[in-house]
Amino acid sequence: MTGDADFDDVGTPDLRSAHVIVVGNEKGGTGKSTLSIHLTVALLKAGFRVATIDLDTRQQTLTRFLENRRSWARTAPWEVELPFHHALQRGNSNNVRDNETVEFGAFADAIAQVEHCYEFVVIDTPASDSYLMRLAHSLADTLVSPVNDSYIDVDVFSRVHHDKARRGAVAHYADLVIEARRRRHQVDQGIIDWILVRNRIASLQSNNAKQISITLGKMAHELKFRPAEGLHDRVIFRELFPIGLTALDPIEEAMRTGHLSASQQAARREIADLLSTLSLPERGSGMAHLQARHEWFDRISLYYRDLEQRGQDGAF
Ligand SMILES: Nc1ncnc2c1ncn2[C@@H]1O[C@H](COP(=O)(O)OP(=O)(O)OP(=O)(O)O)[C@@H](O)[C@H]1O
Ligand SMILES: [Mg+2]
Repeated sequence: MTGDADFDDVGTPDLRSAHVIVVGNEKGGTGKSTLSIHLTVALLKAGFRVATIDLDTRQQTLTRFLENRRSWARTAPWEVELPFHHALQRGNSNNVRDNETVEFGAFADAIAQVEHCYEFVVIDTPASDSYLMRLAHSLADTLVSPVNDSYIDVDVFSRVHHDKARRGAVAHYADLVIEARRRRHQVDQGIIDWILVRNRIASLQSNNAKQISITLGKMAHELKFRPAEGLHDRVIFRELFPIGLTALDPIEEAMRTGHLSASQQAARREIADLLSTLSLPERGSGMAHLQARHEWFDRISLYYRDLEQRGQDGAF
């Protein structure tokens, strides 16, 4: 694993630009890290060069998973694909602006290190509303938000209430995404493709699940996201964490069963379906993202320089 740019036969650097997939939702425990893990492995298995960035500086679930995977890879009887990984640290100064400047610099460096030599960057974000988390959202080309089949989860997107008059107001996480889209649009007319993915769907059909699906369908138009039939609640999506594997790896060998159960096969299909719903760009999609990202970073740098000169604090 290296972060060096590739060169073609005549020594020209390969300047394709990475497509940034941010996995985010301000609600905790909805499956952000689980989706980040499975999307990363799915993209690697599809032959793409993938970099990952862990912005969850406290839990570092994605980082832990990749540590386990790297360790398993050392003795695995087959090739275990690994992304180039970067775990970001939070600024630890008492001064908010200093922290933001440091975090912005570290994040911009992490992106700069990978944008020319990887086709996808998958960014796992924390549930807490932090500067880094907002910054990542404003940079997403594709934003994937897992949501569980519960009105508590829906309520961070659109206010859920028994009184019709108080129902449907844009709630805090949707507000954060709208703001990220607005800022991004100002700078480069970039479009953040937002996909809401149902996660941990119960295997038994229930009226609740049906209602949630209808509610998400209605919200999609207003909040401009695409709803996706996502992942069922399956043991296979969580049990392989200690060895850093996923349902997509040759687990029939790792588990010495020699075959895949119906649920494991279904898990693979769900991930494949999710990937196709995301409609990610084909290889070598050009320089548009790269230029947009640079303009965006320049704009934020200017903002901090300006604040510095005026001796003010502030969050971009
Ligand atoms: N489809 C699924 N099937 C079974 N278990 C799942 C599934 N998705 C997530 N889980 C489990 O749900 C829990 C929360 O998942 P995860 O850690 O991915 O959520 P998160 O959104 O990243 O949480 P946090 O907000 O704390 O970062 C974990 O125990 C995980 O193993
Ligand atoms: Mg997580």
